[in-house]
Amino acid sequence: MEDKLHIGLIMDGNGRWASSRHLPRTAGHLAGLKALKKVALGAIKNNVGYLTLYCFSTENWKRPKMEVDYLMGLFSEKVIGELPFFNNNGIKLLFLGDMEPLPEDAKKALNQVIDETKNNGKLIIQLAINYGGQDEVCRAVNRALSKGITLITPEVIRSNFDNPEVPPVDVIARSAGEMRLSNFLLWDSAYAEFISYKKLWPDWDECDIVSIIDDFGKRNRKFGGLGK
Ligand code: IPE
Ligand code: IPE
Ligand code: MG
Repeated sequence: MEDKLHIGLIMDGNGRWASSRHLPRTAGHLAGLKALKKVALGAIKNNVGYLTLYCFSTENWKRPKMEVDYLMGLFSEKVIGELPFFNNNGIKLLFLGDMEPLPEDAKKALNQVIDETKNNGKLIIQLAINYGGQDEVCRAVNRALSKGITLITPEVIRSNFDNPEVPPVDVIARSAGEMRLSNFLLWDSAYAEFISYKKLWPDWDECDIVSIIDDFGKRNRKFGGLGK
């Protein structure tokens, strides 16, 4: 599975999608979940190995309580509700981020889906929730220190990540036309390709996975060397 593509998705534009329809922002998040399922099916069809989905950043707690509560509700109810979808399609879920500050019901639901999908292997989805790239590196360093490691190297940091078995992301794609990482995968993006599409996240479907694969295929990855 190691040579399969790992795509990171910054799922942005839910609020703008809703506002343009005179709907509350929460309607955009619900529509975003539907898009996510289409994109996951597109990933399976196109033999993508890993998807890392940016669902909630360490900075998203700054949003109005009502919106944060709605999102936390999605992470508990909808994630459990989609368990048959994950299992029927061979999707294994992993959690990426600091789960500790999440509400108890969200933690319980997420741990349950992780456990009940652990034997699937067609597509691995990392749900990045309360995830920040800076926080990820700090947590990895603290984990290493707690094991008595005294010399911090890139290998030590990488091997102390939440899911060290997941290979670094190959390509990060962001919706809604934004051109920044917003604290997503700061360590592993060192040599990832970056793509930004104007389309708002709730409008994404299987075709957008094909676009990412095509655009990524045109890039010449050099990793500091001279490339092809
Ligand atoms: C992304 O959409 C979803 C989350 C950050 C949870 P936004 O909610 O950021 O949508 P815009 O950027 O306001 O349109
Ligand atoms: C990034 O989107 C976080 C997620 C997609 C979950 P934001 O909408 O929070 O990012 P900024 O604030 O525009 O940088
Ligand atoms: Mg946004």
